[in-house]
Parts: sequence; C-alpha cells; structure tokens
Amino acid sequence: MTPPSSAAAASLKAATPSTAAPARPAFGTILAPTMAVARFRDGKWSSHEARPVGPIELHPAAHVLHYASSCFEGFKAYRWADGSINVFRMDRHIERMRQSARALVLPEPDPAQLAQMIRLTIEQNRDEVPEAPGALYLRPLLFGTTPNIGAAATPADEASLVVLASPVWDYFAGGMQALRIFVEDVNSRTASQTGRVKTGGNYAAALGPTLEARKQYKSDQVLFAPGGQVQETGAANFILIRKGQLLTRSLDATFLHGVTRDSLLTMARDDGYKVEERTFDVSEMLEWARDGEAALSGTAAVLAGVGVLIHRGKEYRLSGGEVGPVTQELRQKLVSIQRGEIADSHGWFTRI
Ligand SMILES: Cc1ncc(COP(=O)(O)O)c(C=O)c1O
Repeated sequence: MTPPSSAAAASLKAATPSTAAPARPAFGTILAPTMAVARFRDGKWSSHEARPVGPIELHPAAHVLHYASSCFEGFKAYRWADGSINVFRMDRHIERMRQSARALVLPEPDPAQLAQMIRLTIEQNRDEVPEAPGALYLRPLLFGTTPNIGAAATPADEASLVVLASPVWDYFAGGMQALRIFVEDVNSRTASQTGRVKTGGNYAAALGPTLEARKQYKSDQVLFAPGGQVQETGAANFILIRKGQLLTRSLDATFLHGVTRDSLLTMARDDGYKVEERTFDVSEMLEWARDGEAALSGTAAVLAGVGVLIHRGKEYRLSGGEVGPVTQELRQKLVSIQRGEIADSHGWFTRI
C-alpha cells in the first residue's frame, strides 16, 4: 500500500516484525542521488534535466505553500534476475498523475515527457535499484510555484515537476503480520470530490484520525466508511475475500483508484475468482468478516492481510487474527509477476 505516505510507511513498518528481518532503512527515508526536473512557465513545459537531489528554491509566496496545489505518484521499478530493470504499470501511474493535475487545475504533465523523466531518473540511478525483494520506488511530484498569495481562486500558471527515486525493500521480509484496522464510520478521509486525487492535503487530513486511532486502539490504519459506506484506508484500498469471491468498492470520485487494486482484481478474475465491484456498508463487511478475509492493497505492501477490525469499540477477528490464505496466495502471485518470475500476460511492464 502507499502513498507510501510516511503515515502509511510508518503503520506498515509497524506491521512488520523486526526480529527476523535484516536491518533496512525505513520506506522512503533514503533517496537515490539523481532526480529529474522540468518547469512550466509561459504556457509550456521546459525541457527536463537530471540534477543531484537537493533543496529546490521556492518563493515563500509559492502557490503550493498557501493553496496546496500539488500532487504526486508512487510506483516501483524492479531488477529482474536477468539484470533488466522493469517498471510496473508506469503508464497507469502517469495517467493518474495527469488526472490529479487536472482535478487541481495544475499544468498537466506531458505523458511522453514524464515517461522520459522517469526513464532518466532510473537510468541515472541504475546502480541504486536493489535486487529482489527490493525495488526502486519512483515518486513524481508536481507543484504550483506562481508567487501570489492572493491566488486562492486562481490556478498556478507556473509549476515544477520533479521525479525522485528511493531504493526500498520488502515490507514483509521478516514475515507478514496481520493488521489491526479501526473503522471510522462517521468522518471522511477527504472531500468526496477529491478522494481519487493523489494530493498531499488528503494525507494531511487522514493523519490526525490515524494517529488518534493508533493511540486509542493500537490500530495500524483507519478504514474510512463515512455514513457507513466502506471506502478505503488512509493509504491503501480495501478488499474483502470469501469463498472464491472478492468484494471491493466500485470506482467513484471518493477514493484513490489504486493500480495494485486493479492488478489484483485482474489477476483474481484470470484465476477464476468472482470479483464484485460495488458499494457496501459496514454491516455487510462485518458479515463477510465472520468467515472471510480482508486485505489492504497498494504499491508499498502489495497486499497486506487484516487480522482485526475495530468498530464502535468492538473487535472482530478475521482468519483467526492471521493473514488469510487467499490473501497470501494472491500477494505471492503478484509479487512473482513483479519480480519477473511469472510471465507478464498483460503488458504491465516497461523495460528500461
Ligand atoms: C489513499 C490511497 N489509496 C490507495 C492506494 C493504493 O494505490 P496504488 O495501488 O496505486 O499504490 C494508495 C497508495 O498510493 C493511497 O495512498
């Protein structure tokens, strides 16, 4: 799961037992040395360039600092056994970034240029791509730079686009531990119209409730279900599994359309699971939980099992509090595809 916002990383890290795992830097704390940068000015994008990772000069009146005009992406490039480097579903992430930019009225990155910037970042940091189970996490970032503190109702007409990279390792190197999830059935994670936008403000808004639930219930994540309708957690999509069936919320504006979610559903359909995408409420979820499994999907963790749902002070255990067998199986299959161990029958990879 991701953004990997640091909130997600922290809670996922908490879900990873440290005993057997080798000491690895926490997700996102190490950056590869080179980034790619382009600027938008006078109605067009500049050519991009590779630069050493370091501070960027930003005017204190920059639009992003006042009006939160920023969005980002997160996805991974894998080093396969044959030495090649392969990016998972790069086109989908570029398209989602463009959709986020449109929603925030930011200058839209040109897809071909953003693809070149991602390639450049990977090529420049080629030696930093870890062997499996590690990967190079890519983080494109777009933000409005127009210096104007009176622009609350005016879009930024200047912007920067940066692609950062970070070597990351397997969340579950030491074994998977099931997550504790607090179900928030009143408040929303985001405004309903920005749920599918990958923008920092959404993560800032989810942070307080996530920390509060962690303090009160020792939960790893909050599952948002405003008005009782299940959406997603602060940093991952939510999937129920029972008797050869998967159930997850159908795509709408209220939550992030995860690329991992789409990949898992595609794979599950290929494998003969019945996949239902529709709205469902907390009581139906708890009904499924009695003899089913629940899991969180996202780039960072792929598929993380839920062991406990906490709702209105009551704890509901799933799969005996462990990661369910179907969750493990689906996760293992997607991981094997991502590592190039199982053939990619969907054209999901871009070879660098
Ligand atoms: C809020 C939220 N939902 C879902 C996801 C999963 O998306 P993806 O599978 O594309 O990483 C993420 C991670 O980016 C996220 O931040």
